[in-house]
Amino acid sequence: MDKIPIAFPYCSDELIESVGETIKSGRWARGRHAEEFEKEFASYIGKKSAFAVNSGTTALRLALRSLNLKKKTKVIVPDMSFIATAQSVILEGLDPVFLDVNYDGNLDPTSLEKFLSNSYQEVGAVMLVHLHGKAAQVVEISEICRKYNVPLIEDCSQATGVEIKRKKAGSFGDLSVFSLYATKTLASGEGGIIAFDNQELRDFFSASSDNGFYKGKLINSLGDSLRFSDIHATIALFHLKNLDELNAKRIIIAKQYHDKFNSLNNIILPSLENNVFHHYNIVIKKEYKFSFQEAYSYFNNSGIEIRQYYPYTLSSIFERKPQKTASYLSKNSFCIPIFPSLNTDQINKVSENTYNFLKGLKK
Ligand SMILES: Cc1ncc(COP(=O)(O)O)c(C=O)c1O
Repeated sequence: MDKIPIAFPYCSDELIESVGETIKSGRWARGRHAEEFEKEFASYIGKKSAFAVNSGTTALRLALRSLNLKKKTKVIVPDMSFIATAQSVILEGLDPVFLDVNYDGNLDPTSLEKFLSNSYQEVGAVMLVHLHGKAAQVVEISEICRKYNVPLIEDCSQATGVEIKRKKAGSFGDLSVFSLYATKTLASGEGGIIAFDNQELRDFFSASSDNGFYKGKLINSLGDSLRFSDIHATIALFHLKNLDELNAKRIIIAKQYHDKFNSLNNIILPSLENNVFHHYNIVIKKEYKFSFQEAYSYFNNSGIEIRQYYPYTLSSIFERKPQKTASYLSKNSFCIPIFPSLNTDQINKVSENTYNFLKGLKK
């Protein structure tokens, strides 16, 4: 049997057929499918509008740019995330401030309140991330942002479709951003989308991603080429149509893992609440010794891919002081395969091997 990958994009004959139709139509560049996807996506998330671009990183950069902040303004980000979270801030000429996270990897509202209560005048935006598919404490965080009058950007790249109190992640912030990268819960291969309520931003995003052209007229001579193609939009539309079902499959697999690992007392399992399981991240408790290299060899020999999301803190990459819990997670957690088409034999194999590995961890 081939190695079980950490992630795998969902495909079906229907998807292959619809991509084939788009290809045959000759409409490969941005067009009616991109626009249809934007409309349906905005309505699914619960925002007035959405605009698709070529990547999640582009979406983050344009969302930040739309806030019109002065160079070097501080933007708060969690210390545990994919590197694009910090890169987008720096590439837009802004200054990231890395705050600590909870054991689920999500921004800790207490650290945020503490930082803003002293320095809110210097902060131009808060960017939270819904990491691993688990919703951050976005209700509390949006209240804190409102109290200090700081705009909130939700980075939902890893959690498209997750709900908090019956509202979708991405509906709380002033702007929300999603990556459509191949392994995400809603994937198109490559791509990103920004959701927002202020309709005027559409023109800005449109011109900023289309070499400065808007409705055929050049309105910004230094625009960039960051468009979302109709081929990608066809895949995104298919995934959007099936998103709730695909996320439900992830949750069923996560429950099977939970049932198997529940009796182990040396780990912290991911919460089943408000989680669509982009990753299934296992945290090793403090008293137990863990080496990712050893874990990697063990799983590799069993034909299973495991990964650390992430083996670094963002602050350490950018030579700032690492935050405590983020730092702990970067050394003491790992993810096992989870994706909608994982079959019963594969689930059993992953559960069995993971259980045996974890049981063997020593104090
Ligand atoms: C939390 C987070 N933010 C941003 C990105 C960037 O998205 P993209 O790879 O589409 O540029 C990713 C993608 O991996 C991500 O996981």
